[in-house]
Amino acid sequence: MPAPVLFTPWDLGALRLANRIVIAPMCQYSAHDGSATDWHLIHLGQLAQSGAGLLILEATAVEAAGRITPGCLGLYSDANQAALARVLDAVRANAPPVPLAIQLAHAGRKASSRVPWQGGTQIPIGQPGAWPAVAPSALAHRALEDAPAALDLAGLARLRAAFADAARRASCIIPCRYFSNENIWPMPSSPSRALETFPNPAPARDYMIRIEIPEFTCLCPKTGQPDFGTIRVTYVPDRRCVELKSLKLYLQAYRTQGIFYEAVVNVILDDLVAATKPRRLTVEGDFRVRGGISSVVTATYEAPARGRGRKR
Ligand SMILES: Cc1cc2nc3c(=O)[nH]c(=O)nc-3n(C[C@H](O)[C@H](O)[C@H](O)COP(=O)(O)O)c2cc1C
Repeated sequence: MPAPVLFTPWDLGALRLANRIVIAPMCQYSAHDGSATDWHLIHLGQLAQSGAGLLILEATAVEAAGRITPGCLGLYSDANQAALARVLDAVRANAPPVPLAIQLAHAGRKASSRVPWQGGTQIPIGQPGAWPAVAPSALAHRALEDAPAALDLAGLARLRAAFADAARRASCIIPCRYFSNENIWPMPSSPSRALETFPNPAPARDYMIRIEIPEFTCLCPKTGQPDFGTIRVTYVPDRRCVELKSLKLYLQAYRTQGIFYEAVVNVILDDLVAATKPRRLTVEGDFRVRGGISSVVTATYEAPARGRGRKR
């Protein structure tokens, strides 16, 4: 008799699950200031022993104000990251290698609530454990509860960055330690160094294209730790423009590469010049503070005056 389908492997993108049993995320309301505790060690440890194909960690807040309750798990501080790494290291050392996933979350209007066994209702501002909630709009979660503050564009951008930061923290704990690069949560497309181009629609005119990549990541060649920054590309095209999806995948390829700031900016410049043969091109790398130092590296290419606009 063939094995029940439930117990057959399933390919979730590049990640092969041994079977189709997936453990849903389950809030435990047992963290301290967002940090996992021994409760999580026991909870996740026994679930990892179960033989399920995938274990999803509970909703994990990307900022303190994004926790549903004061006991919710978070991944917004070094302490949170270290506490979760401790738990997962112990789970890994004592259980079969089940793939792990994490649910990064923000509670929005549901934030600052009591744990379920204390009723789950909002903790009013002024009472112990309360904090002001933020949400996309100023609508209360329940009647008679205080409405959250509506986020403005800057607030939404801050939250977006908080999700990205928490994802980076998660990638340091989960995939980098336990999966090979091929098994990191599948992306819709793979990083690739191939830059594609298309014909410049207005080659007779000098005009400028500015591209900003605010979430560039590469690795420090000394420590292997991720470096983050904004890459700005400004260019005056000649015959060809760079195609943006290929540029996105090209830049993603640096996520696993150890390279100095000074080198990466110049390599990006060289590759873009080789692909598009522009009239002028500047690459600026604006890297985030690390060890109290921030760096901005700028490299510029200027084509020789002759031959512009000619077919190459
Ligand atoms: C104790 C408990 C905690 C839960 N925590 C989460 C959570 O962290 N994230 C989430 O998306 N759903 C959470 N849920 C919802 C479950 O993941 C699941 O979607 C829900 O229980 C419905 O599935 P079921 O019909 O199989 O029970 C939780 C459910 C329970 C019972």
